[in-house]
Amino acid sequence: MVGGNFLSLFLLVEIIVSGYRFGANGLSMNYYLMSCPVADPIVKNTVNRALQADPTLAAGLVRMHFHDCFIEGCDGSVLIDSTKDNTAEKDSPANLSLQGYEIIDAAKEQLEKMCPGVVSCSDILAMAARDAVFWAGGPIYDIPKGRKDGRRSKIEDTINLPPPTFNASQLITMFGQHGFSAQEMVALSGAHTLGVAACSSFKSRLSKVDPTLDADFAKTLSKTCSSGDNAQQPFDATRNSFDNLYFKALQRKAGLLTSDQALYADSRTAGIVNGFAFNEAMFFFTFQGAMVKMGTLDVKEGSKGEVRTNCHKIN
Ligand code: HEM
Repeated sequence: MVGGNFLSLFLLVEIIVSGYRFGANGLSMNYYLMSCPVADPIVKNTVNRALQADPTLAAGLVRMHFHDCFIEGCDGSVLIDSTKDNTAEKDSPANLSLQGYEIIDAAKEQLEKMCPGVVSCSDILAMAARDAVFWAGGPIYDIPKGRKDGRRSKIEDTINLPPPTFNASQLITMFGQHGFSAQEMVALSGAHTLGVAACSSFKSRLSKVDPTLDADFAKTLSKTCSSGDNAQQPFDATRNSFDNLYFKALQRKAGLLTSDQALYADSRTAGIVNGFAFNEAMFFFTFQGAMVKMGTLDVKEGSKGEVRTNCHKIN
C-alpha cells in the first residue's frame, strides 16, 4: 500500500518535472515554459497577423511543415538556403511553390530578441503550421516542442516526397514507412482542404480518358490549364477554409491530383474518405493526431542538432 502510494507520487513528480515528455524522444508540451514562455504566443500572433493580410499563406505553412518532416525529419532542413557548395531542399522542383518563409523569419526575429538562441526553427515551423490550421477553421491542438535544427539540406533528399501521380498503394506504402496507417494518411491528405495546385501538377490527367475524373470538372481543369502551367486551381471550393469539402469533392470525382482521387478509387481508402466526408469531427480528430505524430518524425535531440540563429543557414 505504502509502496503503491510512493509509486503514484513518484509518477506524479516525474510527470511534472518532465513536463509531459513525449514518447521516446525528448520533446515536451511545455519545453519552453522556463526558457522562453513567449514562444507560443509570439508564433501565434505572427501567424495570425500574416494570415489576416494574406489568408492563402495558411496552406503554405501546413505544406512546408509536411515537406520539412518527410525529409530528414522535422528539423527545419526545408528552410535552409542553397550555397555555392550545396543545393538545398528548397530548390527542388517539389519545393519551388512552398510559401510562407517570411512568416517563420518574422517569428524567429522576434524570438531571437526575447530569448536568443533558444527556440529552434523547426519548432517555430511546427507551431506555425498548427496555428495556421486553427486560423483557417480547423482543429485546435497542442504540440510537443524541443526539436533541434538539422545541419543537412540536400536537393537529392527530396526524392522522398510523394509525387502527385502516386496511386493509393504507393501512398499507403510511403506513409506506412513513416509509421502512418492508411487512415492517418487519408487524414493528412485532407490538408488539401487548403490551397491550390499548379496546372503542371495535374495536367497529365487531362491528356487521356480518366474514368476517375468527372467530365465537367475535367473541363474546368482544361480551362485553368489554358492559361499555362503555372495557372492555379483550388483543391476544393473553399481554399482558405479548413473543412471536409475536400473529401466531398473526392466523392464527386472532383479531386484535383491523381493522388487525391486515388484515395476514393481504392477500396482500402474509399471508406475512410466517406467517413471523413460524412463526419467532419472525425476528420479533425484523426488529422490532429496524425499532425502531432508527423511533427515528431525523426526529431533530432541534443548535440544531433542545433538552434539556428538564422533559419536560412546552419550556425
Ligand atoms: C499524400 C501525398 C501528397 C501529395 C502527392 C501531395 C502533393 C501536392 C502537390 C503536387 C501540391 C501542389 C503543388 C503545386 O502545384 O504548386 C500540393 C499542395 C499542397 N499540399 Fe500536398 N501532397 C501530399 C500530402 C500532403 C500533406 C500530408 C500535407 C500536409 C499535412 C499537404 C499539404 C499541402 C497543402 C496545404 C498544399 C497547398 C499549398 C499552397 O496552396 O500553397 N500535402 N501537394
